[in-house]
Order: sequence, then C-alpha cells, then structure tokens
Amino acid sequence: MKYTAKAAISALALTVAGVAHAEPQAEVLHWWTAGGEAKAVAVLQEEFSENGGTWTDMPVAGGGGDAAMTALRARVLSGNAPTAVQLKGPAIQEWYEEGVLADISSVAEAEGWADVLPAQIAEHMKCEGSWCAAPVNVHRVDWIWANKSVLDANGIEMPTTWDEFNAAAEKLKAAGVIPLAHGGQSWQDATVFETVVLGLGGPEFFQKALVDLDQDALTSDTMVKVFDEMRILRGYVDDNFSGRDWNLATAMVMNGEAAFQIMGDWAKGEFLAAGKVPGEDFLCAATPGEGYLYNVDSFAMFDVDGDDKKAGQELLAKLIVGPNFQKVFNLNKGSIPVRTDVSLDEFDDCAVKSSEDMKASAENGSLLPSYAHGMALRGAQSGAITDVVTAHFNSDMSSEDAVKMLADAVANSM
Ligand code: BGC
Repeated sequence: MKYTAKAAISALALTVAGVAHAEPQAEVLHWWTAGGEAKAVAVLQEEFSENGGTWTDMPVAGGGGDAAMTALRARVLSGNAPTAVQLKGPAIQEWYEEGVLADISSVAEAEGWADVLPAQIAEHMKCEGSWCAAPVNVHRVDWIWANKSVLDANGIEMPTTWDEFNAAAEKLKAAGVIPLAHGGQSWQDATVFETVVLGLGGPEFFQKALVDLDQDALTSDTMVKVFDEMRILRGYVDDNFSGRDWNLATAMVMNGEAAFQIMGDWAKGEFLAAGKVPGEDFLCAATPGEGYLYNVDSFAMFDVDGDDKKAGQELLAKLIVGPNFQKVFNLNKGSIPVRTDVSLDEFDDCAVKSSEDMKASAENGSLLPSYAHGMALRGAQSGAITDVVTAHFNSDMSSEDAVKMLADAVANSM
C-alpha cells in the first residue's frame, strides 16, 4: 500500500515535470486568412514562438468560419482533433457535450481571468462551471463602414436611421456609385439581417426574436418590416455580389467603387492593413438604432495526447488572455480587448466608441449576442434562420412568406 502510493506520487511528479519541461506544440485551426486577420494571427504565432512554442498553422479560409467548422468536424470524427481551435459562442458548449474539450481552469485561475473579464463574456467561456475556452477580443457586428470622399462628393452624412440610409443609397445609385458593398454568402446576409432586426425592432425585440426564438416576435409585423428593408437593401448591391468574400466587399469601399458596407469591425482590420486612416479615408458608425451586437472570438483546446501538446495548450491560453497580446492583436484585428484593464490609448476612435457603447449597453440591458456570428444560438437554430434570410434575399419571396417560413424553420429546428 505504502509502496503503491509512493509509486503513484513519483509517477505524478514525473508527469508534472514532463508537462513543465515539454516543448510546447500547437496545431491551431482558425479562419483568419484576410489581410487584417492574417496580420493579427501572426502576433499570436510570434508570441507563441518567443515563448518556446512550435506553431503548426491550420488556416481554413472562409469568412464567418463555416468552412473551418466543417474541417473541424472531420478532424474530430477521424480521432485527430487539432490542439487549439477558433471556436465561439454556444458551439463551445456543444463540443464540450461531446466530451472532446480540455479543461483550462488551472490556467484561468492562475491568471485571474475572473477578475479581468466582463462577467457576461466570461460565461461564454465556461462549461458546467469549468473554463473551456480563452477569449481573444470583442468584435462589434452592428457597424456601417463608408468611404469618406465618396460621401463628401455626394453631400452625404453617415445615416442615423434606416430611412436616412435608404435616402443616401438612392442618391448614390443615381450618381452611379454602388451604395452597398455586399458579398452574397449566407453569413454575410445574416450579418446585415441582424443589424436590421436590432435597428428596426430595438434591443428587446432582438432578444425575443433571435435569442429567445419567441414565435410571436418571429411572426410579428416588425419582422415583416425587417424583411421589407432587406428587400430594399437587395436593390443597393451590385449585380456581381453572389459569393463575393467580405474582404473584397471592403476593398470596394476602400477604392470608392461602393459607398457603404455593413459588417463587423474585422472590416476595420482590413482598412488598417491597407494603410487607410479612420476619420480620413473611411468612416465608422453604428448601424441605425440602439444596442450593441457582440461577437467574441475565442479558442477552445481539444483533448489531445502528449505532454508537448498539453504544454502548448497551456501556453496558448495564457498568452491569449495576456495584456500584451490583447493590445497588439486587437490593434490589428479591428476589435477591442476583452480584458477590462487594457488601456485604449493607442486605439482609434472607432475602437473607443465600441468600448464606450459596450459599457453603456451592458448597463442598460442592450448588450446582445450576435446570432449571425454564432454567439446567441446553437447551430441548428441559427442555421435554420440563416437559410430563410438567404432564400429571401436571393429571390422575390414576399416578406409575409419569409416570416412564415422563418417561424416554421425555427419551430422545426427545436
Ligand atoms: C469572426 C472574425 C472574423 C470574421 C470574418 C467572424 O465570425 O469572429 O474574427 O474576422 O468572422 O471571417
């Protein structure tokens, strides 16, 4: 008995020493392949190797991460999960329920994450009370980006209501400018849709319709008006919008071919990577209405064998939430630090606005999870909604039919 206990203790000591001395390794699955995204992820790679880690990159191109999630499923099903995965929202808990995530509570506790993360965001990183993901940033989704000289040349101010947006778009169209740069991929349609839901319905309506999936909200007159506005917006995109990547739409705004883009602030990362200056070359404004749609990027660690990989997961989790990474990464990515104790001195006005609006909306109850970016709903429900939004945007379906289809699709997905 005595001997066994002793043996067990030295075996444990060996394992601990093994992890401590193992060379950290990480194969990292992510979808950050556009200009600003690639610059941002390079910051993490550098910090990881400066700290003795070996990074194996597994980028899967495709905005919004749909392709990356398909690749992840294939890897996990073949019993060969990547070490660390860009994963967010309820998908974290869905993977946890499949029993394939590693517990990173020891890092979270040693680094005091609970003291530096906003409570609402920390909740997304937990699985049955333990920490199962490390948050990177806060992206705001409800933004309009604009080419400043195009607006100036046409005597247009940043719109503060959807009617103003429509009036500006009509004027631009008449002047031969594409009013809205858009990429016809379903996640981009969903991104625009959720900003319209928030803008026309308000924060309470957004919560009921796209978080609580309340049938009355889904079939309401307000939802009919949302689809009416989506039909109007469809008239402001160019003929070649189908399938276009989001960063190519951002480039259309940069080069003055189009005036506006409705997109999260990863678009700002793209403007910055191209050397464009906020307030001079491009403008940012929240989409019309109240509230704030947040989208928090995070990494989950998968249950893998090998002390080197486990050491890699610990190092990565620690670096991601570390103050230096939080600053440098987010300066490149267009987002703001998720830590509340990082100074915004070096950040631009759009980032400062994002941070101020986030605080104000957390106080008045209008800080809401983005459905289009996987923060609000499980995959089956968000997928059901997005299918309808895309089907409507790409056909002449009436708003009334879209609302009926939406309510049915949601009911069937439960
Ligand atoms: C992610 C961003 C990413 C964007 C475009 C969003 O869902 O949160 O980090 O830049 O998709 O790929």
